[in-house]
Amino acid sequence: MPATTLPRVAADGPLAEAVALLLADRVELLPWCVLEEDGLTALDGIYTYGHPELGERQLAKTQGVRVISNYGVGVDHIDVLAAAARGIPVGNTPGILDGATADMAFALLLAAARRLPEGDRYARSAAFTTYDPGLMLGHEVHGQTLGILGMGRIGLRVAKRALGFEMRVLYHNRRRREKEEQQLGLQYADFDELLSESDFVVLTLPLTPETTHLIGAAELAKMKASAILVNVARGGVIDTSALAAALAEKKIAAAALDVTEPEPLPREHALLQMDNVVIAPHLGSATKQTRQLMAERSAENLLAGLNGEPLPYAVGGGEGS
Ligand code: DGY
Repeated sequence: MPATTLPRVAADGPLAEAVALLLADRVELLPWCVLEEDGLTALDGIYTYGHPELGERQLAKTQGVRVISNYGVGVDHIDVLAAAARGIPVGNTPGILDGATADMAFALLLAAARRLPEGDRYARSAAFTTYDPGLMLGHEVHGQTLGILGMGRIGLRVAKRALGFEMRVLYHNRRRREKEEQQLGLQYADFDELLSESDFVVLTLPLTPETTHLIGAAELAKMKASAILVNVARGGVIDTSALAAALAEKKIAAAALDVTEPEPLPREHALLQMDNVVIAPHLGSATKQTRQLMAERSAENLLAGLNGEPLPYAVGGGEGS
């Protein structure tokens, strides 16, 4: 049997069917473990699907890599500088998952505020025998103040949803969004002001060395005791132990988390035992339509890079998430 002449691409799998279909007969997929083996592996590309760590340690074991394509917008698991130092472009999938992720932020916010998971468990249980108007009183959402940390594309979509809920919207971001302030009535707040004034704090900023553990014990102490923290960014933006302590000590009312550090949390973790924690398994962009678009964009990036063409969606090519 003649050896394949298809470009050789290492990928962490199992890949979604949509991705596998787009890459079928166009690349030879090799398992991720080739990046962990001794010696050099000849590769043409690397495809990151489920956030595997990819840094200098793995890249140093490869030769010939012309592109790294990531399924998703966040690239905190990839050492982009190490790739750049080797002249390898990194592609991601910006701009297509903002709406789905903002929807998820609101789903989590509403679920935590109105105690939906608790209510769901109770409504299914034998304990629910009669309607009780005093039961499971939640937090008002409409008319409250929402603070968004990170006003990129996703933050902006969260803000637009909040306006539909008649909320006052504060935001904090590296750069002011004056146009949006004027057009939408968003209010810029400094970091501490946002924490202390918001009824809901939503995290929509990328994980970087500057944002790692941005929300720790001191920041949680500045929030209202009635506040709800929503994270659709990355688990590492929050100091998990500090969050568990703040919830246990009722320094804040609840947390709604699509992402955690570590992910998943150990099954016995304190956060998983708390009724005032709503948790999802990193579903921010997990709709059929959005995942299909992510598959298409990441395949386009991969194939462009393999052909020596500029990546249509290169990391560093636009506004952050
Ligand atoms: C993203 O796009 O970064 C999501 O977390 C899915 O990977």
